[in-house]
Parts: sequence; structure tokens; C-alpha cells
Amino acid sequence: MKNQAMNDSVKDVNSDHKRTLPGYRGPWMGWMLFAATTVAVFFLGLLFASIMERRNEAKIRPPLVPIDPLETDSSQWAANWPREFASYMRMQEDATKTKYGGSFARDYLEETPANVVLFAGYGFAEEYKQARGHIHAVEDVRKTKRVNSTTPATCWSCKSPDVPRKMIEYGRLVLPGEGASFEELLLAGAGDFYAKTFHQLKGHITHPIGCLDCHDPETMQLRISRPALIEAFKRQGRDINQVSHQEMRTLVCAQCHVEYYFKGDGDYLTFPWDEGTTVENMDDYYAAQKFSDWTHAISKAPMVKMQHPDYEVYGTGIHAFRDVSCVDCHMPYRTEGGVKYTDHHVQSPLLNIANSCSVCHRWGEEEIRSRVASIQDKVREGRDRSERVLSLAHFDIAACMEVGANDDELTKVRDLVRRAQLRWDYVAANNGMGFHSPQECMRILTAAVELAQECRLECGRILALKGYTNPVKYPDYSTKESAQRLIRQFTDGNPPSLLAPGVN
Ligand code: HEC
Ligand code: HEC
Ligand code: HEC
Ligand code: HEC
Repeated sequence: MKNQAMNDSVKDVNSDHKRTLPGYRGPWMGWMLFAATTVAVFFLGLLFASIMERRNEAKIRPPLVPIDPLETDSSQWAANWPREFASYMRMQEDATKTKYGGSFARDYLEETPANVVLFAGYGFAEEYKQARGHIHAVEDVRKTKRVNSTTPATCWSCKSPDVPRKMIEYGRLVLPGEGASFEELLLAGAGDFYAKTFHQLKGHITHPIGCLDCHDPETMQLRISRPALIEAFKRQGRDINQVSHQEMRTLVCAQCHVEYYFKGDGDYLTFPWDEGTTVENMDDYYAAQKFSDWTHAISKAPMVKMQHPDYEVYGTGIHAFRDVSCVDCHMPYRTEGGVKYTDHHVQSPLLNIANSCSVCHRWGEEEIRSRVASIQDKVREGRDRSERVLSLAHFDIAACMEVGANDDELTKVRDLVRRAQLRWDYVAANNGMGFHSPQECMRILTAAVELAQECRLECGRILALKGYTNPVKYPDYSTKESAQRLIRQFTDGNPPSLLAPGVN
């Protein structure tokens, strides 16, 4: 018993002694420390995950030198972002060439004289050149022969950050006072902007596509500055402010690289996406609106010009399916002196394969180039074949007119050629010679050929009904010059005879 008491007392003494030692915190404290460390590690882990998620957002720091909220002169942004600006300035280069692209002003009409026939009676038969870099946008639209005294201001829409600036200015007249957001002002002022003429705004629109077109200067986050895209999303029941960061890396391009038309008397810039963005959806949309851009000079068919449905075509391809954005290929990351930044020299990715494709594809550079070329060559061949039958379809309809078929008798064939050409143009006007979605492009070209041949078959029947059974005599359009001379005869009202001599 004594021993027991002794032991207890020794224990007590020992514990008392420990309790009085400096720094001793008892066993419960060890457990507390263990628990606290576990909790801290857990929250650090959460924080790390969150940092990783926001990496891209956090990477963009707000400007150190303040930028005016509506600064349209990109050089004024340069002090904050010298690397982005320097790479942006490289778009001045306009001599780069790839097999089907590059930034020189390739003359499409020289290269494909059939285009003169297909666009007969429309500006694109006079001049149609390959796009250059963004920095040339204002200069190029001022020079084009396609602009005349009645051209609406809507044509400026995709050329300059002065466009959103002017819209905001008009928006402030509609929504006076403070408090309206950038987007609200933009939407409020857009109608007044479009209703002006191109020439009325000439003095106000001077800066080429630049920083303000894609960025909010306060936060440097990506921002949509074009009302047409915001409105097209709204009509589809989508909110453009709720999309993912990766989708924004495509949507900033979709502000301009899309199919569009000028709606109604106010020439309101509108994307024809209410039924969807496939070529069939757009055909249905335009047919329901009874919309046409011009009357064809040879066939007198009401035609629709497709613009450059890059976003829509891309959306049907494997890269969109795998969530690869326009920016991943056209504005890849670069590293300079250990600093990683986004290359703002927007151009053909084939001029920068190492940064754009090789990040994901471990094929050699030559193999990548030849894979792209083999895709593009096939689409080009499909285009050539459809261009040929489409041109012949326009002449067949003209031959029907020559034998006396009236407008009622020609409604069906004109509708067929309109639908065929709209399909061909969806592929032809889309940039990249089919690379963005090869199968979709070939699918659409087969539909174009089918419709054009149906049209020609029907024309053969009409000719026969009128008693003409000889072949149609197709004129020469093998060069840009001969093609332009030919279509001038049609627009001047003295077309050549398309019937074989001695018949009728
Ligand atoms: C997987 C990579 C990739 C993606 C994603 C991509 N492109 Fe391209 N793009 C290309 C390639 C390759 C070409 C062909 C370039 C050539 O022929 O020189 C091209 C061509 C173009 C061209 C014509 C450039 C020229 O020099 O002829 C434009 C404009 C374009 N793309 C816009 C877009 C837009 C807008 C998007 C998103 C909606 C997009 N691209 C998505 C790879 C891509
Ligand atoms: C504000 C409208 C607008 C926006 C936004 C825009 N583009 Fe463009 N893009 C144009 C116009 C207009 C041209 C033709 C310029 C010219 O030829 O003068 C063009 C030309 C191009 C070219 C051809 C350049 C060359 O040198 O071959 C490529 C590639 C291109 N854009 C890709 C993109 C990509 C990728 C995005 C998104 C990151 C984008 N664009 C955003 C309007 C725009
Ligand atoms: C056609 C659209 C477009 C234009 C025009 C544009 N940018 Fe960007 N910029 C982007 C995209 C896309 C990114 C990538 C952003 C992301 O992934 O969050 C980017 C990223 C940036 C970043 C973040 C850092 C980096 O390099 O990734 C800065 C800073 C920047 N841009 C500055 C500028 C400046 C300065 C200009 C004008 C000289 C400009 N941008 C013009 C689309 C554009
Ligand atoms: C961010 C990653 C990424 C980038 C950048 C990228 N690709 Fe791809 N690419 C993919 C993915 C993912 C696929 C689909 C592969 C699969 O699912 O099997 C693909 C598929 C392809 C295919 C096969 C298409 C088919 O239908 O079989 C080709 C060709 C191709 N890419 C070319 C390119 C070229 C050329 C570039 C540069 C201009 C490029 N890619 C840039 C990710 C990328």
C-alpha cells in the first residue's frame, strides 16, 4: 500500500514537476497541435486548388499605369504590357505565305475566276482579297472597292475599337446619368450606330482592332465588346456572362469571325443563329426572313452571301469537341526571358507550329504541315468541283431565260441555285480551307453539288419544254479578266447568247 502510495506520489511529483517545466504543454496540447496541423494542411490544400483554378485569371494583373476606360489607341496600353503590345505590332507584317493562307492580300478572283461568275452583280466580283493582320483592318476597309456612298456604318463593326466607343457614346444619350454598365450602354447605342452611313463615321473610326476590342482595361479580363454576339446569345436563351474562361477564349473571336447580316432598314447587325448555327439552320432562317443580299446578274436568282463563319464551322470540328479554343492555336503562349505571355501576333498557326500545335501533338513539324495540307487539298478539290457546277447552273438558268421562260417558271431553279451557293460559300468563305472541320466542310460541299445538279437537271427540262434540246453554250471565264468582261455584258443588259447557233 505504502509502495502504491509512494508510486502515486512519485508520479504526482513527476507530473507536477513536468507541469512546472518551462515549455511543457501536456498531452492534450500534443493532440491539439496534431489536429490544428491537419486542419491547416487541409485548408492549405483547398487554397492551393483554388489558386490552380484561378491561375489564369490571377495571371492577368490590373494595369499599373491607369488606362482610360474607353482607350481605343492600343499604343496607350503599351506601357503596361510591352510584350503583348510588341507581339501585336508584328501584325504589320503582310508578306507571310502558307499554301492556302498567310497574311498577304492574295487575290481570290485571280486564283479562282469562277468566283467572279458566282458573285456576278455583287461587289465580291469586283474585288475579293485574303485578309491581312488585324492591324490593317481600318486601312483595308477604307480601300476596298466594295464600299460606296450608301454603305451603312454597320460595315465598320468588326474593324475597330472605336466602334464600341461610339456605341457607348450614343448609349449615354439614351441612358443618361451614372450607373449603366458597359454592356447596357453598348446595347442602348448600337441601333444609332448602325443607322449612320459608313462615310458619316469615317472621321471617328481611325484605330485598327486593338486591346479594347477584347479586354476590360480596368481588370484586363476578356470582355465582349460587340452587341451582336451578346444579343445572339440572349435570343438563344444563353447568358454570355456565364460562360467558362476557356469558352471566352473562343468567343472573343466570335465577335467578328462569324456569319452575319444587316437586318431591316436600320441595317442592324444580326447573327442568323436563332435556329442554330449549321448551314441548314441558317438557310432556314434566311428563307423564313425572305432575306437576300443581291440579285445574281446572270441567273437573276436572289442570293445570300455567306461572310466568314469561322466560329460556326470550328464548332463542328474535333478541336471544339475537345475544348481547344481559337486562342490555343492562333494566340499560343510564348516564353521570353522566363516570362510566359500570350502571343498577340494573331496569324496562321502554320507560321508558328512549334508553339501552336506541338504543345499538344508530338508529331514532327513537317508531318503537321503535311497533314494540314492534305486536309486542305481535299477540301480545295471539293470546292473546285462545286464551283464548276454552280457556275454552269447560273448559265443554265440564263439559257432558260433566253428561250423565254418567265420568272414563275424559274422560281424553283433559282431557289435551288441560291441554296447550293449558300452552302458552297459557307465552306469557301470560312477561313482555313476546311481545316477547322474537314468532314463538315466536305459534307456541305456534297450538298452544294447535289442541289446545283438538281437545278441543272430542272433547267434541262425547262429548255426541252421550250423546244430547245441542244447543249447550252458556256462562255469563257478562265481568267479574272475574261470573267469580269463576261459578267459586265450581263450587268450592262447585253448578255452573250448561250444557245448553240442554228437552233431555235
Ligand atoms: C486546332 C487549331 C486551330 C483552332 C482551334 C482554330 N484554328 Fe483557325 N486555323 C488553323 C489552321 C491550321 C489554319 C490554316 C492556316 C493556313 O492555311 O495557313 C487556320 C486558319 C484560320 C484563319 C485564316 C488564316 C490564314 O492565314 O489564312 C482564320 C481567320 C482563323 N483560322 C480563325 C479561327 C477562329 C476564329 C477560330 C475559333 C473560332 C479558329 N481559327 C480556331 C488552326 C486552328
Ligand atoms: C473586332 C473584330 C475582330 C475580332 C474580335 C477578331 N478578329 Fe480576326 N480579323 C478581323 C478582321 C476584320 C480581319 C481582316 C483584317 C484585314 O484584312 O484588314 C481579321 C483577320 C484575322 C486573321 C488573318 C490574319 C492574317 O495575317 O492572316 C486571323 C488569323 C484572325 N483574324 C484570327 C482571329 C482570332 C483567333 C481572333 C480571336 C482571338 C480574332 N481574329 C478576333 C476581325 C476580328
Ligand atoms: C482579339 C482579341 C485580343 C486583342 C485585340 C488583345 N488581346 Fe490581350 N489577350 C487576349 C486573349 C484571348 C488573352 C488570353 C487571356 C486568357 O486566357 O485569360 C489575352 C491576354 C492578355 C494579357 C494577359 C497576359 C498574357 O499575356 O496572357 C494581357 C496583359 C493582354 N492580353 C494585353 C493586351 C494588350 C496590351 C492588347 C493591345 C495591344 C491586347 N491584349 C489585345 C485577346 C486579345
Ligand atoms: C490544346 C491542344 C491542341 C492543340 C493546340 C492542337 N490540337 Fe490538334 N487535336 C487535339 C485533340 C485533343 C485532338 C483529338 C484527338 C483525339 O481525340 O483523338 C486533335 C486532333 C487533331 C487532328 C486529327 C483530326 C481528325 O479528325 O482525325 C489533327 C490533324 C490536328 N489535331 C491538327 C492540329 C494542328 C495542325 C494544330 C495546330 C494548328 C493543332 N492540332 C493544335 C488537341 C490540340
